[in-house]
Amino acid sequence: MKNRKTPRYVTAAECPQAGHERMMMPQPINQPDPYGLSPEPALLQRMRETGAVFMMGQNPELPVMPAKPKLLDFFHYRFCDIAYMHLLQSAKLALDAGQNETVVTACLLHDISNGALLRSDHGYWGAQMIAPYVSEEVAWAVQQHQALRYFADEAAGFKYPDAYNSFFGPDYQPPEYLQHAHREARKHRWYMTSRLVTIYDIYSFQDGWDVDPEQFTDIIGRNFREPEEGLGFDNSPVAHMWRTMIWPHNFL
Ligand SMILES: [Fe+2]
Ligand SMILES: [Fe+2]
Repeated sequence: MKNRKTPRYVTAAECPQAGHERMMMPQPINQPDPYGLSPEPALLQRMRETGAVFMMGQNPELPVMPAKPKLLDFFHYRFCDIAYMHLLQSAKLALDAGQNETVVTACLLHDISNGALLRSDHGYWGAQMIAPYVSEEVAWAVQQHQALRYFADEAAGFKYPDAYNSFFGPDYQPPEYLQHAHREARKHRWYMTSRLVTIYDIYSFQDGWDVDPEQFTDIIGRNFREPEEGLGFDNSPVAHMWRTMIWPHNFL
């Protein structure tokens, strides 16, 4: 991925808890078997028997983040390749189509939760993560794309994505809370902002199309209020969400 910054790693000795074996406990939400095969008892036993500790802070397997991380640092150092490309390509499509900066920003951020936090209900998580730093309209558009993606609006130029027939099966019906959200969003004055996010959303991933994130620096500067202390450390109501992406393997 040509435009991704080269990550920097540190050795285990430079991480917190140096000198101890550091064990990673999977997040409860991500346990392979929800019916009780938790790795917790075995890991606790290992702790008691060997003096191993549970990981807190920097994981040497992950790139080091700057002390005061900015939005694009999460793109470069935390998002998986697909999320990184997907967000940049969507924003670039909107930009090239001459959309305003509110739409471009919403496109750039619409799947930010998928990047390194959570996929389920990602429009809602993503909107919450960015709310203190963007306009209300951008956050609203990101939240509502969760529902609008499932409902065609041919007049606006959006048909139900073919990919969803493969992802969910051709008979899939979104649950009532999304049907309700869709009905409400249709009546809203910002409907088209969120609808455009679904239009520039890319439903089949395009390999080999490298979009340089630096071209969005000015748009981000005007539309995303980077906190002086860095994302995760500004005491905002969502700072913990950004910290969780910085240190996703903290035991507690
Ligand atoms: Fe999405
Ligand atoms: Fe998307």
